[in-house]
Amino acid sequence: MLIFLTLSVLLTTACGAVYDYGAYDSTRDDFRLGRFPDGFIWSTATASYQIEGGWDVDGKGESIWDRFSHTPGKVQRGDTGDVACDSYNKYGEDVQLMTDLGLKYYRFSLSWPRIFPNGTLAGGVNQDGVNYYNRLIDELLANGITPMVTLYHWDLPQALEEMYGGWLNEEIAEHYHNYATFAFQTFGDRVKLWLTFNEPLSFCGGGYLTGQHAPGIQDWTTESSLRCGHTVLKAHAMAWHTYDTTFRHLQGGKVGIALSLLWAEPRDPDLPADVQATDIVLQIYQRWFARPIFGDGEYPPVIQQTIQKLRSAKKLEGLGFSDEDKSSIRGSADFFGVNHYTTSIVASKPIDIQTQNLLESFEQTSAPEWPRAESDWLFAVPWGLRRLLKYIKDNYGDPEVYITENGWSDGDVQPPVMEDTGRVCYYMTYIDEVLKAIEKDGVKVRAYTAWSLMDNFEWARGYTERFGLHYVNFTDPNRPRTPKQSAKFYSDIIANNGFPEGSEVTKMVRDMWSKCRTHKILKDEL
Ligand SMILES: *[C@@H]1O[C@H](CO)[C@@H](O)[C@H](O)[C@H]1NC(C)=O
Ligand SMILES: *[C@@H]1O[C@H](CO)[C@@H](O)[C@H](O)[C@H]1NC(C)=O
Repeated sequence: MLIFLTLSVLLTTACGAVYDYGAYDSTRDDFRLGRFPDGFIWSTATASYQIEGGWDVDGKGESIWDRFSHTPGKVQRGDTGDVACDSYNKYGEDVQLMTDLGLKYYRFSLSWPRIFPNGTLAGGVNQDGVNYYNRLIDELLANGITPMVTLYHWDLPQALEEMYGGWLNEEIAEHYHNYATFAFQTFGDRVKLWLTFNEPLSFCGGGYLTGQHAPGIQDWTTESSLRCGHTVLKAHAMAWHTYDTTFRHLQGGKVGIALSLLWAEPRDPDLPADVQATDIVLQIYQRWFARPIFGDGEYPPVIQQTIQKLRSAKKLEGLGFSDEDKSSIRGSADFFGVNHYTTSIVASKPIDIQTQNLLESFEQTSAPEWPRAESDWLFAVPWGLRRLLKYIKDNYGDPEVYITENGWSDGDVQPPVMEDTGRVCYYMTYIDEVLKAIEKDGVKVRAYTAWSLMDNFEWARGYTERFGLHYVNFTDPNRPRTPKQSAKFYSDIIANNGFPEGSEVTKMVRDMWSKCRTHKILKDEL
């Protein structure tokens, strides 16, 4: 899940002249029928801390998210991941849900402290934790489902936080590398698709800038978040190179990274200040991690300038890449993992460059006609995804793209939202933009992953925001899962490999279309 760096910036709707973003293409919102390429990967995703529970059982070590959610005031309503969806015990049911959907792929993450309780190899391996993932992987394979495994989805061992200061300290790259190597060694005979990290921008921004995520460090100078990103990029490259040299010829898999990417448009495209502010936003959101790995190995100018400024003001050490770092990081991914949810409109705000933070130089807003999810940052802007995919193709050497997350939240309301029209409309239109990106723009999109298989622990929002294709009753100790309307809809898309002319799913799209419009109008009136 994505979190904005600028959570403190109020999301207000654009005022003044209304510009219809991107409407110069009159066919922009047309629905395109058609099938996805053969072998296209349909998947759903989850993450260890968000679903597993079993936070302190069978030898698992504490993670920074255990500590954070147990600290009063950090998570809405005091919710924790102590039990979550109880997937530590109910993974068999999860696999059954996937089988019912007709899914052939599943993206989940390993909990580092479940495998290395104190984060290090020296601290010993927790065999019960290893056995859990072996059972899950074997159950998936027995049901014809290919695992796609994220090594790090935010649950850092608390011991590494305490001894080293977590990602602020480059020394933990070595521990991450040991953990990744152990995972390749232990599970790589069966796991062929790996993601080193999930959304570095979100956990470096949330954990070390706004402080709204674990470990809760607030540092608006941006130094801490930049340090975090730096360590992560090095750790990522170390893991990729080890896979490349030691495991690839034996296991034949692929290793990528999942980046959270936003699309953005200037509020007034004729106003140079707004255009420039949009570029700053894109340098941060789009290029901070993508350019070093998929581009020329350098940080984008805005990040470089910020580092320079911090260096001269504070006599900082580190934070720049050596030539060796650059060549190690550049090209260190077999595919480009994209987590995408929404689009922003960006307006410039005049600041005093000498004293003020770059993050105060822009304002992110939305258009009044964009439907909003329960999450206050999530607006449905399907065409933004197509533009983002085209951007990746044009700027990063036309890589293979795996969409590793995309999804929509509803509230935790009674009765629960089971006929989840908002989510169905979101998936229908976003997935169609992927089809357009493939067929009209020639982007090499290989996979689409819906976030999420089921409702789960939504970080600082606890259980107040529900992203699942399946409803989970968190007040029932059995945590029963029930498919929502979107689960049926997604399974029809999978069965048809898209929206082929004349198929049932296409009829469903036609039926939904007016509902989606109505939905939009309803949202507009809120
Ligand atoms: C983990 O445990 C080992 C063995 O007791 C110890 O040497 C090491 O310092 C510990 N590491 C951390 C990060 O606590
Ligand atoms: C959730 O579970 C509780 C406890 O079993 C039950 O009282 C409640 O009706 C359930 N809610 C829904 C929406 O099924």
